[in-house]
Amino acid sequence: MTPPSAPTTHPTPGAGHAVSGPAVSPAVEAKTSPHAPKGPDWWLMMRAFLTQGKRIASFAPSSRFMARKILDGIDWATARTIVELGAGTGPITAELVRLARPDAKLVVIELDPTLCGRLRDRFRGAPNVDVILGDATKFGELLAERGIPKVDHVLSGLPLPSFPTGARDAILDTASRTIADGGTFRQLTVMPLIYYKMYRRYFENVRFRFVPFNLPPGGVYVCRGYRGAPGDVPVK
Ligand SMILES: C[S@@+](CC[C@H](N)C(=O)[O-])C[C@H]1O[C@@H](n2cnc3c(N)ncnc32)[C@H](O)[C@@H]1O
Repeated sequence: MTPPSAPTTHPTPGAGHAVSGPAVSPAVEAKTSPHAPKGPDWWLMMRAFLTQGKRIASFAPSSRFMARKILDGIDWATARTIVELGAGTGPITAELVRLARPDAKLVVIELDPTLCGRLRDRFRGAPNVDVILGDATKFGELLAERGIPKVDHVLSGLPLPSFPTGARDAILDTASRTIADGGTFRQLTVMPLIYYKMYRRYFENVRFRFVPFNLPPGGVYVCRGYRGAPGDVPVK
């Protein structure tokens, strides 16, 4: 990983192109790089949503309540490696940085170059955060390149129900192979419970946690016990 004192590298457009970048101590979040995307998080998300629609899926960053709910119950004393897929502007990443052990490795993957730029800038001073501009469908390879065989938890902000079946299967297959015993796959949603049956087709055990204080209200699926990809089935 690039040391925090090194100059910030900036993502170049191109889906699937993984570029590791330096990260930021929340304490120095205010000091932004001159090349960082301009504007508040809500504006970057809104603009991404208006231009990319389904690939972003939500017009606003997750609330603090959502961030806390997706992380609730993680054993911070033992969690050493956590992956976040589709991190947006980083509301969940920020909570992750706050709660995780300082020596825990946090791998954060985002496909959109502008949002990735915001993540890089925001977490520049957090040496344990590896922000990757890349495609979550390739996250197994991205972890392998970094010599990471297993992770404790996978957190997903990806709009998985709108992914093509093959891409969704690839992500959940990789997650199941990568998550260590006792770990979880955690998925946020802004359509409470609508996709419960879909996640049950992939996992034996799915718990839904409602998050009313989010824009729009949403929730989190906490999944364990992968059954295998169910094939091309309706998402609801
Ligand atoms: C609903 S937003 C969630 C953002 C953030 N996690 C939050 O809670 O505010 C979904 C995010 O997934 C990202 N995304 C969509 N497809 C992706 C992919 N194939 N690989 C990585 N990120 C992706 C989008 O760019 C967007 O930032």
